[in-house]
Amino acid sequence: MNLGLNGKRFVVGGASKGLGRAIATCLVEEGARVLLVSRDGEALAAVAAELGGNATPCPADVADPAAPATILAAIEATFGGRLDGLVVNAGGPPGGKALDLSDEQWLASYQVLLGGPLRLLRALVPRMDDGAAILFVTSTSVRQPIPNLDTSNVLRPGVTALAKTLARELAPRIRVNSLAPGRFDTDRVRSLDEQRAAALGTTPEEQKEQSAKAIPFGRYGEPAEFGRVGAFLLSPAASYVSGLAAHADGAAVAALP
Ligand SMILES: NC(=O)c1ccc[n+]([C@@H]2O[C@H](COP(=O)([O-])OP(=O)(O)OC[C@H]3O[C@@H](n4cnc5c(N)ncnc54)[C@H](OP(=O)(O)O)[C@@H]3O)[C@@H](O)[C@H]2O)c1
Repeated sequence: MNLGLNGKRFVVGGASKGLGRAIATCLVEEGARVLLVSRDGEALAAVAAELGGNATPCPADVADPAAPATILAAIEATFGGRLDGLVVNAGGPPGGKALDLSDEQWLASYQVLLGGPLRLLRALVPRMDDGAAILFVTSTSVRQPIPNLDTSNVLRPGVTALAKTLARELAPRIRVNSLAPGRFDTDRVRSLDEQRAAALGTTPEEQKEQSAKAIPFGRYGEPAEFGRVGAFLLSPAASYVSGLAAHADGAAVAALP
């Protein structure tokens, strides 16, 4: 199947590593052009060099109100001001229990998950051509709370609601979907495993083994397995798919539907 991504122009958040990088890699492999966004410019430059001429680094902190102007300038310089899609993705919010987290931690989590993305969408949606697609990277916390990740449990369902709302408001010109990762082998998940292991007095390897056993597939996902689903949802091949809250989780979520 031809995904129809050749020559399409995307902004991909959280693109220096993990799931964002995996989506960006897949888009480029399918002939798309990508602006890679995350904070560490050196890491982005290394990814861009690996991906070749269709990938351009654009260092920006999505939580910073100045980010949309930086990204708009890069869209102007790289794509001539127009766009075919956006991956809304950055680092995860801090772990912890709802009543233990401070106001500052809650507000910082809001800025990364909702405030920054809203500002970015306000700036970028007017630059999108007909048939463009937006993809939010969320978490299976939108269906089942994850122990000790309460910022995600509370705020990610709001992100999913935003995706659904925009899918209806921007239809039929722009498609909007979300994709919830279960447990993928990335720096984020390795660091969560290390924190849990330290709290429980086990090793990160034991923690990973325990977590993998709870997944019906018996293993963590590989980022490339996420990247392929993301690229499909962003592609013209998914032209009638909008408002979908999809999972890539090895059957981990037990909730219906
Ligand atoms: N991996 C999983 O299994 C899993 C499961 C559930 C949910 N998620 C969620 O999916 C998202 C991606 O996860 P991941 O595993 O790929 O994480 P990751 O490996 O830690 O990568 C996060 C990426 O986001 C960038 N980033 C972080 N904060 C940013 C900011 N304020 N502005 C712009 N870029 C920022 C990071 O680069 P810089 O640090 O250089 O900015 C990096 O490129 C996260 O929100 C995570 O919570 C992941």
